[in-house]
Amino acid sequence: MAPPRLAVALATFALLCAAAAGQDDKILRPWPPDCSTADNYTADSQYKKNLDQLLAALPAAAGDNGWFYEGSVGTGADRVYGLIMCYADYNATACMDCLSRAPAGITTVCPGSRSVRAMYDACTLRYSAAPIPATADLAVLYIVYLTFPEVAVTSEGVRAAWVPLMSELTGGAAASPLRLASGSTPYSSSQSSQEMYGLAQCSRDLNASECSRCVSSYVGQLGKLFPNNSGGVIKGYSCYLRYQVAALDITLPPAPAPATPPPAGGPSSSSKTGIVVGVSVGSVSILILLGFSMWLLLRRRRRKEANLHEETRAMEDEFEKGSGPKRFRYGELAVATDNFSDKYKLGEGGFGSVYRGFLKEMNLHVAIKRVSKGSNQGRKEYASEVRIISRLRHRNLVQLIGWCHGGGDLLLVYELMPNGSLDKYLHSADNKLSWPLRHKIVLEIASAILYLHQEWEQCVLHRDIKPSNVMLDASFTAKLGDFGLARLVDHARGSHTTVAAGTLGYMDPERRARGRASARSDVYSFGVVLLEVACGRSPAVVLDDGAVIHLAWHVAELHGQGRVLAAADPRLNGEFDAREMESVLVAGLWCTLDDRRLRPSIRQVVGVLRLELPLPRLPMRTPAATYKPPPAAGL
Ligand SMILES: *[C@@H]1O[C@H](CO)[C@@H](O)[C@H](O)[C@H]1NC(C)=O
Ligand SMILES: *[C@@H]1O[C@H](CO)[C@@H](O)[C@H](O)[C@H]1NC(C)=O
Ligand SMILES: *[C@@H]1O[C@H](CO)[C@@H](O)[C@H](O)[C@H]1NC(C)=O
Ligand SMILES: *[C@@H]1O[C@H](CO)[C@@H](O)[C@H](O)[C@H]1NC(C)=O
Repeated sequence: MAPPRLAVALATFALLCAAAAGQDDKILRPWPPDCSTADNYTADSQYKKNLDQLLAALPAAAGDNGWFYEGSVGTGADRVYGLIMCYADYNATACMDCLSRAPAGITTVCPGSRSVRAMYDACTLRYSAAPIPATADLAVLYIVYLTFPEVAVTSEGVRAAWVPLMSELTGGAAASPLRLASGSTPYSSSQSSQEMYGLAQCSRDLNASECSRCVSSYVGQLGKLFPNNSGGVIKGYSCYLRYQVAALDITLPPAPAPATPPPAGGPSSSSKTGIVVGVSVGSVSILILLGFSMWLLLRRRRRKEANLHEETRAMEDEFEKGSGPKRFRYGELAVATDNFSDKYKLGEGGFGSVYRGFLKEMNLHVAIKRVSKGSNQGRKEYASEVRIISRLRHRNLVQLIGWCHGGGDLLLVYELMPNGSLDKYLHSADNKLSWPLRHKIVLEIASAILYLHQEWEQCVLHRDIKPSNVMLDASFTAKLGDFGLARLVDHARGSHTTVAAGTLGYMDPERRARGRASARSDVYSFGVVLLEVACGRSPAVVLDDGAVIHLAWHVAELHGQGRVLAAADPRLNGEFDAREMESVLVAGLWCTLDDRRLRPSIRQVVGVLRLELPLPRLPMRTPAATYKPPPAAGL
């Protein structure tokens, strides 16, 4: 039996079909399709039944899944695999039209074919008796010359604009979960200056490296294919590239509905549902066409919201009852730490002191952070923040167990990390952290930040990423601590706190100047940590002549000389994987660019660290722009 999901898919499709048929019942013809000619299926075969079921389900499935779908129907020799996807330079109407009419018409275009690859203006459709390989097919199938007569093109001008545009698009498409990137860059000719727009898009089943490989290969052919054109399109089954010296309308698909299973029993869709891109729906006609599926989406979203409210209420109940984030009595914590005696003190940080403690009742060793705060802060004010923080769960975050508002202070209770913090190892004379361990640690921190920034329901800024906030558990798994604390402390100390919170060597220039934190300022701080871990030195580098420069500038200089590996920690004795080391150093430089807009998102950083993304080409740094000796006290 088909799962219930399929019934919904079919219902949606019926409606789309009706809408489409009302407008135009002609078959949508693909560009010359690739229809298999051997071993055709027969009219009464199981393969045909499975294929019909798949083709009927694909449009709605893709409609709900960000305009891409891959799945299969059937089992054994009769199993049919299919994939459908829209191109982002067509609007929602055109996409929905293509999604609904392409599958409907393909059996008329290629009757009897066991596998088909078909490309339309707005979408592409493939089905096959074998799983569709998730590898880049570099063949260029179609080339379209676009001419904008009002634009004066010179091949030099076009080429000059391609370079920055294409490098942005290649990396951007690979890094984006939707596998698409668009952008523009100034284009200047003798007569005028305009913008060149571009789009790169990959079939969303490809992983980042395959996508990047495909787009790069097309980019490499631009010069040959379009010697002096004001626009052009290269189209293949794995990727798509378009540029033009004229405005280009890009329509991003709506965010995929959560957890869509494949039409039936197939491999799960490889699309990610991580990033909400936003819906760009422009017209009434789209709304009519999309009506039903939108309604489904909305209903699902509303349900999700309702669930959230319920969850919050449950949290409050839990909170009162004492399960979940526990509110401790001050007395309990005082007993656990022998009245906060120095003997139990683990350290002192920007936010306050940390004590080791033992909670007899729970038989649990904990770290208790005592944050001194301003006078009259209410319990309620902390409660909501603490509740958010305590709901964050990730294997690379230090878990908050509970809190207490008493004795004039805020006390936060965490799981105890037996191996202390990363800084202790990095800067000890005999730094014993091997490269594989360091590499594992940076990947773990990155995945914690990715969770905070992009994977949780709202973006949570850490605001104080530095090695002393990276804790190591018994097996040296890195866990980021103190997340969200900066915000709590901001509450406590009022307006002048953003500078006190965070540590200067890890703070990006804009944050230093204006105190504005953002996801990209967290990325900056993480970049400094990357460099620090790879180089084994602190953010302040003292030169032979006594001048102090920032580590990022020191590494950038070596990178500029083409010998970035010379920055590696000498205590490693050259024992490291050169590709990994280079990726960590280059990612560190990328993250610490002065201009926030040029810094990567944490997802891109993860791509580079995992060697899935090609190393970015970094803009040249000018010493003046980078070098600003931070006050020694801040480091
Ligand atoms: C969508 O694009 C088609 C052509 O591809 C165009 O005819 C139609 O007017 C567009 N609709 C909207 C709402 O922009
Ligand atoms: C199989 O079907 C295709 C059309 O899809 C047709 O062109 C081809 O001739 C058929 N092959 C045989 C052997 O009938
Ligand atoms: C990406 O996909 C290709 C082809 O499926 C595979 O060979 C490669 O190992 C994958 N890369 C990563 C990083 O998963
Ligand atoms: C550029 O375009 C012009 C026509 O606009 C053509 O005559 C010329 O051959 C083209 N140049 C190259 C290198 O193809």
